[in-house]
Amino acid sequence: YVLGIDLGTSAVKILLLNQNGEICDEISKPYPLIQEKSGYSEQDPLQWVDRTTEALSEIVAQFDGEVQDIEGISFSGQMHGLVLLDQNHQLVRNAILWNDTRTTDQCRQIYQAIGKERLLDITKNPALEGFTLPKLLWVKENEPDLYEKAAVFMLPKDYLRYRMTGKIHSEYSDAAGTLLLDINQKEWSKEICHHFELKEDFCPELVESHAFVGTLNEEFAKKTGLSSSTKVFAGGADNACGAIGAGILTEGKTLCSIGTSGVILSYEQGGDRNFQGKVHYFNHGKENAYYSMGVTLAAGYSLSWFKDVFAENESFEELLEEVKDVPIGANGLLFTPYIVGERTPHADSAVRGSFIGIDAAHTKKDFSRAVIEGITFSLNESIEIFRENGMEVDTIISIGGGAKNKEWLQIQADVFNAEIVKLTNEQGPGMGAAMLAAYGCEWFPTLQECADQFIRKGKTFFPNKDDAEKYQKIYRLYKSVYQQTKELNE
Ligand code: XUL
Repeated sequence: YVLGIDLGTSAVKILLLNQNGEICDEISKPYPLIQEKSGYSEQDPLQWVDRTTEALSEIVAQFDGEVQDIEGISFSGQMHGLVLLDQNHQLVRNAILWNDTRTTDQCRQIYQAIGKERLLDITKNPALEGFTLPKLLWVKENEPDLYEKAAVFMLPKDYLRYRMTGKIHSEYSDAAGTLLLDINQKEWSKEICHHFELKEDFCPELVESHAFVGTLNEEFAKKTGLSSSTKVFAGGADNACGAIGAGILTEGKTLCSIGTSGVILSYEQGGDRNFQGKVHYFNHGKENAYYSMGVTLAAGYSLSWFKDVFAENESFEELLEEVKDVPIGANGLLFTPYIVGERTPHADSAVRGSFIGIDAAHTKKDFSRAVIEGITFSLNESIEIFRENGMEVDTIISIGGGAKNKEWLQIQADVFNAEIVKLTNEQGPGMGAAMLAAYGCEWFPTLQECADQFIRKGKTFFPNKDDAEKYQKIYRLYKSVYQQTKELNE
């Protein structure tokens, strides 16, 4: 057996898998966000440790085999969050999370110090509020006493792993989201660290995602009932693990994941494509591989906002069900999902969304369809960037809330003009984490062979030529809305 621990933003989710990749147990434990001011988003890392300890104890209590048979553990983690430890490895403050946007000034300072071109050369990514380095500079500027105390920084799942093993490491896929990693050289950038006066041992030692980093420490083993011989492997960023868990492990494979936010992610073998920062470019959890990724900030979130405001008493299933009764184009109604700003392609945290073309004859279901179509158009902007940069996007694995409804899967096929494949045993990033443990334990010679055994493909949705053409026209209109509306909120 192996355990995959997915340290998410709202909860930790743990999967127990056997050697066939079957889920034998799964437990989720929530923890709160701390949002003291608008734009702030923090969490207490001790909650991550406590909730994980509880969840693992419950899994062990329900497990009817020998605990020694739980051979390995690995992780998937919410990306970019800043955890600071002092010299004695005690927490200096709460973690500042990926969805915290207080750092616009610090992003500007990074461009001033390094230059945008140079930053893109080294890190392949632009300075965005969500990334780790701007958060570190915010602490330096606003909490100098705490900054003085900080001796080492960590990413969320790396802190959890440290508490389970006593060993401090970082790994490439999560380090890639800090703006401190030289993505191609796979080392902390001396140039950037030097600019911001970071001491050499401030950044933890880097390892591969499947690297064995130690066994559980006695204290943690005792608390959970797990064996102290359980092997612990580094793990990866949640998007990298989501990709592994959906089998995005070779060139030409693309993922569409619609959760609160939406992600279009494509495998990259080379690490040499230059998107000029238009999409994210990170190291994969598979050795010496990369992925590019576009993000729609409010994907599922647009739908849940719409439900809360206009259809409080309906379920998501009911809302989605009525979408099929409305023709393509929602009877002339168009929605842009920028309700909390947008990342790809505009990287504009100030823009806001819109409904355009409202007719007195429209009813709620037209609006529901427009919301679904608008989210899908936004994701298509990422696919378009991939295609413009020479990537072929013919087949897309679709996961998350967007893969639960047939009509939406067909809309994806028609808007993206690609075949959409659904998985039958989809488990998100936790599956990728468990696969890293299985591969680390040498159950399989390659991650691909693990994917072949663990991941099961379901139905394929094919694009309909006429419908795809209809969508192309509306999509062109959709794209022009951003320029027309961006000044509304400036
Ligand atoms: C990726 C990002 C989010 C977090 C969510 O850049 O900010 O997807 O990883 O956990």
